[in-house]
Amino acid sequence: MANAIVSLRNLSVSYENTVALEGVNLDIYDDDFVGIIGPNGGGKTTLIKAIIGTLPYSGEIVYAPVLSSEEGLGIGYLPQLNEFDRSFPISVREVVVSGLQRRKGLMRARYRKCDWAKAEELMARMGIAHLADRPIGEVSGGQMQRALLCRAVISEPKLLILDEPTNFVDNQFEKELYRTLRELNERMAVIIVSHDIGTVTSEVKSIVCVNRHVHRHDSNLITAEQLLNYDCPIQIVSHGPVPHTVLGFHDGDCSCRCCSCSEESSKRTSAEK
Ligand SMILES: Nc1ncnc2c1ncn2[C@@H]1O[C@H](COP(=O)(O)OP(=O)(O)O)[C@@H](O)[C@H]1O
Ligand SMILES: [Mg+2]
Repeated sequence: MANAIVSLRNLSVSYENTVALEGVNLDIYDDDFVGIIGPNGGGKTTLIKAIIGTLPYSGEIVYAPVLSSEEGLGIGYLPQLNEFDRSFPISVREVVVSGLQRRKGLMRARYRKCDWAKAEELMARMGIAHLADRPIGEVSGGQMQRALLCRAVISEPKLLILDEPTNFVDNQFEKELYRTLRELNERMAVIIVSHDIGTVTSEVKSIVCVNRHVHRHDSNLITAEQLLNYDCPIQIVSHGPVPHTVLGFHDGDCSCRCCSCSEESSKRTSAEK
């Protein structure tokens, strides 16, 4: 049975003049593969930063013991690309191994031989071994995302969170990435933020809609009606012929844990006015 590894209770986050998240209740389970969707500025990155512990919040976040250790939170994180400082003068290899930083401290000399070996192995698997000595500022967007993914998983976290990893990358990378994430999901929970709702919903097991409020939807099928009910104004894209991923209407037969189908029609009516 799946166990909750992160539980948010009545979580709110505000910046100076903006309430970014309000009254959020959400559980993340150890076998989850969750896609986070929502409009620009809806609070997706804020939600993730609260979970990884880099933003002040009100309310409560409870982490299962498997995520907390003396070495810090056992969460791997791939930041949105515009948040990563590309001018930082370190090599691709050093970026990858820095995913062990909490464990090793800041000094490069403190990484062990096996840490560097693990970095080599990951870079080889992600097809960037030949770039290991290159300054991180000189590689392409896709190569950078590969390096950041290696960095996020090198500590073998129990939860991996990726914030818009498919921005600025080609389709080939996107396909590879989802294949890699499915493999990783056999041993860790995965949360991926994406604005590409068509692709992300076809790959994940559950969907979380974020637009100041947060709704968990325990299926990768989501309808335009449900998005409306989740106050998630984003365009819906059909997946075409792939059978289990076609976005269609459920006719109110949604069996997810979070949405109250009996309320749907009244909410919809008011939303449509
Ligand atoms: N550092 C910040 N200071 C002030 N407001 C911010 C900051 N970061 C985000 N916001 C605001 O919080 C809201 C949510 O932003 P964000 O979490 O980045 O959304 P998303 O990732 O869904 O695009 C937006 O209105 C944004 O302008
Ligand atoms: Mg964001």
